Formats: sequence, C-alpha cells, structure tokens
Amino acid sequence: MPDPDRSVELLIREASRRFLVSANRVRVVRAPYRICPLGAHIDHQGGTVTAMAIDRGVLLAYLPTASRQVAISSLDFPGQVHFHLDEVPDKRNGEWGNYARGAARALQQRYSLSRGLQGLTSGRLDGGGLSSSAAVGVAYLMALEDANGLAVSPRENIALHSSIENGYLGLKIGILDQAAILLSAANHLTRIDCATVQHQLFAYPTESPSFKIMLAFSGLKKALVGTDYNRRVAECRQAAGLLLAGAGRADRPHLLGNVRPAEYDAYRGQLEPVAARRAAHFFSELERVERGVAAWQRGDLTTFGRLMTESGASSITNYQCGCPPLVALYELLVSSPGVHGARFSGAGFRGCCVAFVEPDRADTLAHSVLSVYRKMHPELADNARVILCNSADCAEIVSRGTHSIPPT
Ligand code: GLA
Repeated sequence: MPDPDRSVELLIREASRRFLVSANRVRVVRAPYRICPLGAHIDHQGGTVTAMAIDRGVLLAYLPTASRQVAISSLDFPGQVHFHLDEVPDKRNGEWGNYARGAARALQQRYSLSRGLQGLTSGRLDGGGLSSSAAVGVAYLMALEDANGLAVSPRENIALHSSIENGYLGLKIGILDQAAILLSAANHLTRIDCATVQHQLFAYPTESPSFKIMLAFSGLKKALVGTDYNRRVAECRQAAGLLLAGAGRADRPHLLGNVRPAEYDAYRGQLEPVAARRAAHFFSELERVERGVAAWQRGDLTTFGRLMTESGASSITNYQCGCPPLVALYELLVSSPGVHGARFSGAGFRGCCVAFVEPDRADTLAHSVLSVYRKMHPELADNARVILCNSADCAEIVSRGTHSIPPT
C-alpha cells in the first residue's frame, strides 16, 4: 500500500524540480478514486446510490501562474497539455488533457479566472472502473479554484464536473462519480440522492470495519467497441416515457426516477422486452440500495454482500452491460469463499470488479482469484491484477505550500 504522505512529498519534490521553484511554493490536491457497492447505472435516472472513496487516487501538484496559461504534465502519461484560458481548445479524442481543458471551460462559464497553473499529476490506476477520470476532473477544478481564490462548495463542484462530462465531453453520465469523490468519508458509506444531490454519511457500526475492499482488474482497459453507455441511458428514458405516459404524466422529464413505484407496477406490462429489463434493473436496484444501507448500519456484511452480488446479476441480465472478461471475474469472485459480495465496478464495459472480502482471507483470495482468472483469460493476463484497499476521505487540498499567491 503506498504511503500517502510519502507520495505527496515525492511529487512536491519532483514538481519543484520541474517548475524551478522551491518546494514550499508547490500546492497539491488529492482526489480519490471511488467505488459504488450498490446503485449501479441508476444515477443518470435520478436514483439513489451508495458510494465510497478509496485510498488510491490522483495527486495534482500545481503552482498558480499570473500568465493565464495552463501547462500540465504527468508522471504517467507522455506529452504536455498546454493552453491559454482565453482559448481553451475543444475536446480531442483519447487525450488525457481533455479534463484540464474541460475544467477550465466549465469554471469560466461561471467565474472569470485571472490565473492559470503549472501542474504535474500522478496516479496510475487507469485500468477503468474506479472513475479516475472524475478524480482528475475534480483535481483540476479544485486546483484552478484555489489558484483563483474561489470558494466553491462540493455541491457546485459536482455540477461543474457534470458540465465537463455532459457538456465538454458529451457523455451522458450521472453524478455518482464526482459526488462520491467530493462527499465521501473514510469508514462511511455515502448515500447520494442523485435527483436532489442530497447525501448522508453512514458510519460503519464498529470502529474497524471487518472487510477489505478488493479490486480485481480484468486487464481490459479499452472497450473493444464504443460502449453502450449512452444507448442504455436512452433506453431507460424510453422506458420512463412509456411508464409516465401510462400514468398520464408524460409531461414530466423522462427519467425512471420520476416514475412512482405504484405507477411502475401498474404499467410495467406495457413495456416491450428491452425497456422492461432496464426498468426492472432500476426499480430492483433502488430497493437494494435501501436494504443495503440498513444492512450496513447493522454491520451485516453478509446481507450487504449478497445485495452487491444480486446487483451484479441484475447489471448482467437486466441492464445488459459488462463484457465476457468482467462477467468471468464476477462469477469467479462470487463463488470464492471469503467474498461477502461482488459486482462490476463502474459501468462494467471494461475495467474491474469490486468485492468486499473477509480481511483474514484477503491476501490468499487475491492470489487465487488472480491466478485462476489469468488461466481463464491468458490474452489479458499481463494487465490483470488484484489489489486490496480501504475506504478514504473525499478530495482535498493536502498541501498549500507556505507561500501566499501574489495578486495579479
Ligand atoms: C460510470 C458513470 C457513472 C455511473 C456508473 C454506473 O462510472 O460515470 O455516472 O453511471 O458508470 O453506475
């Protein structure tokens, strides 16, 4: 497990060398990755989800500049991202700089920025499924805000990140990722109502939670074909439209979260098979979230884990996301002794599965899952891996240097 303080220290040292300034001028923001044990693919429909931040994530070291230039390099990706705040370029497919450009665009729709920044990022877990992209987006937002002396609430940052994803990048994702990254707390389960953006933190009832979070990476980093994420969102909306029309409320926004459970029961028979499956996932997942929160509060990991596994099954059969390597990993995890429960982490088209496992068996389990999976998918064996981690706090500026920012 990397020592977080040591990672910050090393990054500051490297940034000070590259920026040609003393280390005490370098600032650092840490943005964690997230998991979503229950509540998959319902955020974009205004559903309620559960989430946690984990003790892995990205670090962004930065130095505010008066020039309004933004120049960012990464310890993990080649090249440099460079632009002026007056001329933020449009998105460029497949480039890691999109999130920095998107953050600058989003912020400038609401604020006038007088400073840019020089930045250096680090964070390697780019295998997919942990929302490293939202972590990066949140980190750029927070660094630009700090550089410009702006006090922006987590709630507003959630909206700003949505405008990077939905506006600048054109992905119809919900708020799960950035809300988890901005609102979570260590040893707590975060319950987020994605319609109202209200959240609650539920502490685990014992001081040290009796589980480890296992992340099993399939090795499939890029979806082989463009993912069906946006199409699934459209199918959910179509189902919502039909159900709302049945209830005589077709004027409401076509989101499954706007359909009352009684209306779903009354009109579900009118749905054609695809819409019926998407709606079945939504309404069953909503129930699992509530039962899961109750189980968590009792410290009942058996029930919590079983609900995660059921959620995973519903993602496969009703929501129809996933891909063969991830389904294989899921099946392997849920049939392994010592696993409370497992499901795809994130959208499920690539990346990893998340499991809650018994701490005493975690190391052995990690080895056996990895070796069995590698035999099942030798073509992905080199990139497959399994790591164990814990919950963590939300994104924060972990170092402000000791120098105040000079006026522009
Ligand atoms: C991705 C999206 C999220 C959410 C999950 C599935 O991570 O970015 O908004 O929809 O998939 O729960």
